[in-house]
Amino acid sequence: MTKNLVAFVAFFIVVGSTAHADKAFRKCASCHSIEEGAKNGAGPNLWNVMNRGVATNEDYSYSKKLLAWAEENPQWTPELMDEWLTNSKKLVKGTKMNFKEKKESKRQAIIEYLQSMGTEQ
Ligand code: HEC
Repeated sequence: MTKNLVAFVAFFIVVGSTAHADKAFRKCASCHSIEEGAKNGAGPNLWNVMNRGVATNEDYSYSKKLLAWAEENPQWTPELMDEWLTNSKKLVKGTKMNFKEKKESKRQAIIEYLQSMGTEQ
């Protein structure tokens, strides 16, 4: 009985947090796909973005500003991603992405989702 209850609760924690993350990504989905191999939109596909290096989607034509920034910052970290999502144009002047999310809890949910959609977890 107790065992069933634990499994039941765990199920809802897992399902609940995934649903939350997906919801957070909705703001991104108008410009970004994230499933492996999916087509680029206005922005690049974001599969494995936390591991694959900044601006390294070979099928996507990045702005020169982001490519230049990537030379100094070759890897997305949770900290850099948090700044990017707070105000992308403030972190990378002249980037094509114009995005601001004020709520830390929402940025956190997005970052966790990005981390879950990749090859290393
Ligand atoms: C209105 C369109 C738009 C929205 C909405 C948007 N992005 Fe972007 N994103 C872009 C564009 C365009 C680029 C390419 C920027 C450049 O080349 O300067 C980009 C680039 C990125 C990159 C860099 C990718 C790489 O290969 O290193 C990340 C990460 C990213 N976006 C994450 C997000 C997330 C997460 C959200 C939602 C919270 C989001 N974006 C919302 C358009 C958008």
